[in-house]
Amino acid sequence: MAFFQRRNAELYAEHVALSTIAEQVGTPCYVYSRAQIESNWRDYDQGFGTHPHSICYAVKANSNLAVLGVLAELGSWFDIVSAGELERVLLAGGRADHIVFSGVAKTHDELQRALRAGIHCFDVESVEELSRLNRIAQNLEQIAPVAVRVNPDVDAKTHPYIATGLKQTKFGVSFDEAIAAYRKAKVLNNIQIIGVAAHIGSQITEAAPFLSALERLLALVKDLKGEGIHIKHLDIGGGLGIRYHTESPPSSQQLIASLVHVVQTSGCSLPLYVEPGRSIVGNAGVLLTKIEYLKSNAGKNYAVVDAGLNDLLRPALYGAWQNIVPLRQRSDVEPATYDIVGPVCETGDLLGSQRKLAVCSQDVLAIADAGAYGYVMSSNYNSRLRSAEVMVIGDQFHIVRKRETINELLAAESLLPAN
Ligand SMILES: Cc1ncc(COP(=O)(O)O)c(C=O)c1O
Repeated sequence: MAFFQRRNAELYAEHVALSTIAEQVGTPCYVYSRAQIESNWRDYDQGFGTHPHSICYAVKANSNLAVLGVLAELGSWFDIVSAGELERVLLAGGRADHIVFSGVAKTHDELQRALRAGIHCFDVESVEELSRLNRIAQNLEQIAPVAVRVNPDVDAKTHPYIATGLKQTKFGVSFDEAIAAYRKAKVLNNIQIIGVAAHIGSQITEAAPFLSALERLLALVKDLKGEGIHIKHLDIGGGLGIRYHTESPPSSQQLIASLVHVVQTSGCSLPLYVEPGRSIVGNAGVLLTKIEYLKSNAGKNYAVVDAGLNDLLRPALYGAWQNIVPLRQRSDVEPATYDIVGPVCETGDLLGSQRKLAVCSQDVLAIADAGAYGYVMSSNYNSRLRSAEVMVIGDQFHIVRKRETINELLAAESLLPAN
């Protein structure tokens, strides 16, 4: 986390002390570093060297408008999975013709909206979706550009909830049926085949599964050529992991360099697309949370904080480990071992287990590497208000999402009419 550093006893985001943000904005609060996001994106870009490429940031990882705006300014492309994400990208200044649209359940309205907007490519995930897209394009008198998302049946060696490239998952078209799907696409009048796509999972910490998937895609491109189908781009998806604890994934530059090597040595000069999410924003964010109470039950110490699984779901959902550190280091109390628990009425509302911390009640903690799959997975469970989000730029910070209010929480609901 190069842009989150401790100076003396204080933790900073770029040149802003996180304690200043906690005091002025309150907690829980997500804080992002613009410089870290930019640096992560540029690392990908540099990894490609001169090979033609598109970095399609996976909006699902963090869809705050300010985050998307930073990436749009860098010239990023975007990978979306819903009409909501499409509107966000457009509002943030992203170009429609730099968008690829993945997702197993694209609705009629979503396909229609994306066609009207003029997106670059639909990553189609079933033969039925191809037919639906063709019909909608016909009605709009448009041609829909597509890649078939194939399922390369590669074990990404990650948590089962985020492995998407095994043949029994719901994602994509199985590899054995890919040619048949492309044949079908070829005869549909309002479909134009432009690419081949895959995405094998998330938080992948080795290069090997990506390389295996890429080799399968390259073989498919050759077979398609034999069918008279000429592919214009290869999309290998996202999924590169980050270091939360002891993981040691390859750097994005290393991964991309080895992918480009495989493409080029196979004699292929097609543009390579990637769809990174976590590795662009994961280490660019922290979640600030205040200790409300310190207590111990049956000899076990608890730091009860004001952020819960409704704010950050990863620990409860995947048993994920994220580092938890105090904003201000103390030398006036002895360290003790705590379970860091949230306010939600679930025993599983555990943000960190058995962490050694020198803290007092009311101290603020930072949960590290919370920029990806953090705020976007938050909810109002227990009628808790969603947290604020802040972007740091150098020595300034900006609130890029206001903390939710009780009125906003209740705005869409109504009582039944009186009898
Ligand atoms: C189709 C697709 N592309 C890209 C991503 C981004 O993955 P990650 O955030 O692990 O890079 C995902 C997330 O699972 C995805 O489903």
